[in-house]
Amino acid sequence: MDAQILLERLIAEHKPGFALQREFQTSAEIYQLDLERIWRRGWLFAGHTCQVKQPGDYFVLDIADDSLVVIRGDDDRIHALHNTCRHRGMRVCQAEAGHVGRIVCPYHQWSYARSGELVACGGMDKDGDLDPTRFGLHCAHVREVAGLIFVCLAVDPPPFDEAERALAPRLRPQGFERAKVAAVRNYEVRANWKLVWENNRECWHCHANHPQYVQANWDAAPIDDARLRQEIEAHARAISARLEAHGLAIDYAEAGMVRFPSPDCWWSINRTPLVPGWVTESMDGRPVAPIMGDYPTRDVGTLRVRTMPNFWNHSSSDHSVSTRLVPAGPQRTLAQVQWLVHADAVEGKDYELDTLLPFWGLTSEQDWDLCARNQAGVNSPAFTPGPYSTRREYNVIRYTEWYLHEVART
Ligand code: FES
Ligand SMILES: [Fe+2]
Repeated sequence: MDAQILLERLIAEHKPGFALQREFQTSAEIYQLDLERIWRRGWLFAGHTCQVKQPGDYFVLDIADDSLVVIRGDDDRIHALHNTCRHRGMRVCQAEAGHVGRIVCPYHQWSYARSGELVACGGMDKDGDLDPTRFGLHCAHVREVAGLIFVCLAVDPPPFDEAERALAPRLRPQGFERAKVAAVRNYEVRANWKLVWENNRECWHCHANHPQYVQANWDAAPIDDARLRQEIEAHARAISARLEAHGLAIDYAEAGMVRFPSPDCWWSINRTPLVPGWVTESMDGRPVAPIMGDYPTRDVGTLRVRTMPNFWNHSSSDHSVSTRLVPAGPQRTLAQVQWLVHADAVEGKDYELDTLLPFWGLTSEQDWDLCARNQAGVNSPAFTPGPYSTRREYNVIRYTEWYLHEVART
């Protein structure tokens, strides 16, 4: 069936406030529309600037058929170069990450500068026949915000400045630019990328499925719990006052549960206190690494960032955990989880992976398992979409509205 006709029928039949129909999570046609209208249009989180500290440092980001080499150039700027040779299309970078003086195509050795210009193609018929300025690697758009790298595959990317203005000052105290990646785990999630987000956008499932996470966090409560909201806000005010006494002004205005996303906003950032007794998101709440960024004290709660369609991050005073999604098929999503610590922290001396990783490692793996079993249930011929709770799944409702708005844009 024609993908657009299928989409229009599904949108017409979708009941607001109810889960998406099965085809949204299974159909190859809808998956292609998702790629075209969301993944090839919007800003995608690629990684951290500390992954490409020196000119020539790079990592590769594959998004369906697109492959980008995210590399720091000799101009010290970060470039996103399409990983397809301008001769006959060979992938120029095979490794997932590394360091290069020049990017040399392994096929016939055309070579490119670290910002993509063609610098040599020796062996062509006649020297001087080919104008090298016309054969640099194709570029995607790149923006950096306080240590985070975003890329966009569209020819005309959507606006970014407003997001940057909101994100940059709130991200900066975390010190992402002075961090390092302490560990990376790559996961294959056997579920459509939208089911992964649906799972992420509510914490109703947390008590039953995340025994570690709920000890440190309040998110499992419904949004209309006024008494809890007052308690969280009182903690937030106390943290703010403590930090202000140290000369650090931090906005905790949106402590607690926040509503996100909406059709006109693809990013969100807030800070919220942890449950008393927990100074970091670790298994026992105790510190697992040296303080990061500008924090004068450990008890700063968590910084939380989400950007649609592929990124969320939780940061404590001593470490930060970034999750990046990439769709890999109608029922397959690749999730990369990265743990960051202060750049000067030394493994074995200042931190141990055994204490740094389990909190988010377990929580992530619990979620991937939930997503896979959710997908299996949605695949059942007996599945019919059920209603979302407005108290507990308000952000799944928002997410579904955002998604339908984005995918419907021709
Ligand atoms: S395809 Fe790259 S040099 Fe020929
Ligand atoms: Fe979860």
